[in-house]
Amino acid sequence: MEIRRSRPDDATRISELEGEIFSDPWQKKDIFSYICSEDGMCFTALDGDVPIAYVIGRLIAPEGEIYRIAVDEKYRGRGIGYRLLSYALKSERGRGLETVFLEVRSKNAAAIALYSSYGFRKMGVRRGYYKNPDDDAIVMIYGKLGE
Ligand SMILES: CC(C)(COP(=O)(O)OP(=O)(O)OC[C@H]1O[C@@H](n2cnc3c(N)ncnc32)[C@H](O)[C@@H]1OP(=O)(O)O)[C@@H](O)C(=O)NCCC(=O)NCCS
Repeated sequence: MEIRRSRPDDATRISELEGEIFSDPWQKKDIFSYICSEDGMCFTALDGDVPIAYVIGRLIAPEGEIYRIAVDEKYRGRGIGYRLLSYALKSERGRGLETVFLEVRSKNAAAIALYSSYGFRKMGVRRGYYKNPDDDAIVMIYGKLGE
């Protein structure tokens, strides 16, 4: 498995994965625009040349925000999400990343387990933040302020 910074061509498969995985999938044009943006924090894991996992975020140094991380269902539970997150955050340190924020559905146990195992800490709760289905958001932080 290779992990590298996302390329514009990845947007097609990533948008297909969005449709398979999320109830509010991102459109290809939005994924493409993050991948192409200077402040995009976008990385892809590949099996051969096929994207199987991705992270999409934004870097406004020294802070970063993660909007999406997902692994193709067939590849879950093998440490790919963890390796992708680790690769992304370590790479972006070179561009000044110190602190990372994210929001996650309170019922998303797998994602909370991934972030917690990496060292993210719970910072707060946003009640009723998500729709379809309704859920609270857990706000998590990693890095300087979270230490
Ligand atoms: C969340 C997600 C990215 C995890 O990817 P993954 O490759 O399966 O995770 P990993 O195998 O790297 O596991 C990382 C850690 O999370 C834990 N974990 C992963 N899935 C879990 C689950 N379903 N239940 C409990 N813990 C879980 C692992 O045990 C591991 O913890 P450890 O390091 O203490 O052993 C994946 O489940 C996914 O794509 N979910 C759908 C998309 C999503 O909800 N994204 C987050 C919101 S944008």
